[in-house]
Amino acid sequence: MSDYLRFLQEGFATVLEERARHPDGGLSWPRALRSLLTGESADGGDLRSGDRLVDFGCASGYAFRAFDDLDVSYLGIDLNPAYLAVGRAVFAGDPRVYFLEHDLMDTPPPVLAEVGLCSALLETCPGLLPVLAHVAQCVTRMLVIRTHLGPAEEIHLPSPMLLYADGRPQYANQYAVADLVRVLSDLDFAVTLLPDTVSGEQPVVVRDGFKPATVRTATTVLARKRTPV
Ligand SMILES: C[S@@+](CC[C@H](N)C(=O)[O-])C[C@H]1O[C@@H](n2cnc3c(N)ncnc32)[C@H](O)[C@@H]1O
Repeated sequence: MSDYLRFLQEGFATVLEERARHPDGGLSWPRALRSLLTGESADGGDLRSGDRLVDFGCASGYAFRAFDDLDVSYLGIDLNPAYLAVGRAVFAGDPRVYFLEHDLMDTPPPVLAEVGLCSALLETCPGLLPVLAHVAQCVTRMLVIRTHLGPAEEIHLPSPMLLYADGRPQYANQYAVADLVRVLSDLDFAVTLLPDTVSGEQPVVVRDGFKPATVRTATTVLARKRTPV
C-alpha cells in the first residue's frame, strides 16, 4: 500500500472510531434501522429479545451503538483488520459484541444469526454475487440491506484511490432492483423495498475527486426468510 493510501485509510479509521464512540453511531441510518427492526415504524418489528445480530461489512461496528440498550448480541464481520481493531478496542468492555475478520466475497462465514444488517457493502463489491449468497446463508429470519438501487445496473469504479488494504478496488455500483429481488428470491427470501429510511427518496451523491459526481439512490430492502431454519 502506498503511503498516501495508508494515510487515507488511517484517516477513515479515526472517523470510524468517532462513530463507534458516539451514541447511535453518529449517523442516522443505524437508528433508522433500529426503528425498523423493533417495530417503531410500520414495516418491521423483526428483532426480538435474545436475538443475534450480524453486521456484514461492519467497519468499526458503530451501528451497534443504536442497538446497545437492547437484549441482543452483535457480531461484526469485515475484511479490514484496521477497522476491526478499532471496533475491538472501543467495545472491549461489552461481552455481547464480537468481531470476525472474513472476506465475504470468498466464502460464507461460519455464522448463523436471526437478523442480518448489510449496509453500504454490496455496492462496494464487484457485483451482487457471490457476496449476497454468502451473506444470505448466515441469516435465519431477516436481512436488512441498504444499497444503491435503480432501474438498471451500473458498474462504476469511483477512483484509483479507493482501494482496500490488499489493493483491490472499491466499487460504487448501482444494482437493478429486479436483479436484487430475483437473487434474494432465489435465495429463499421474500422482499419488501422501502424508500431509504435515512434519505427518503433523495439521491446519494458519490464523489471521488476525479470524475463528475455519480448520483446513486440508496434504498432499504427488507428480506424475510421464507423457510424457517
Ligand atoms: C462503505 S463501508 C460501510 C460500513 C458500514 N456498514 C456503513 O454502512 O457505514 C464498506 C465496508 O465493507 C467492508 N467490506 C468490503 N468488502 C468486503 C468483503 N468482501 N468482505 C468483508 N467486508 C468487506 C469494508 O472493509 C468496509 O468496512
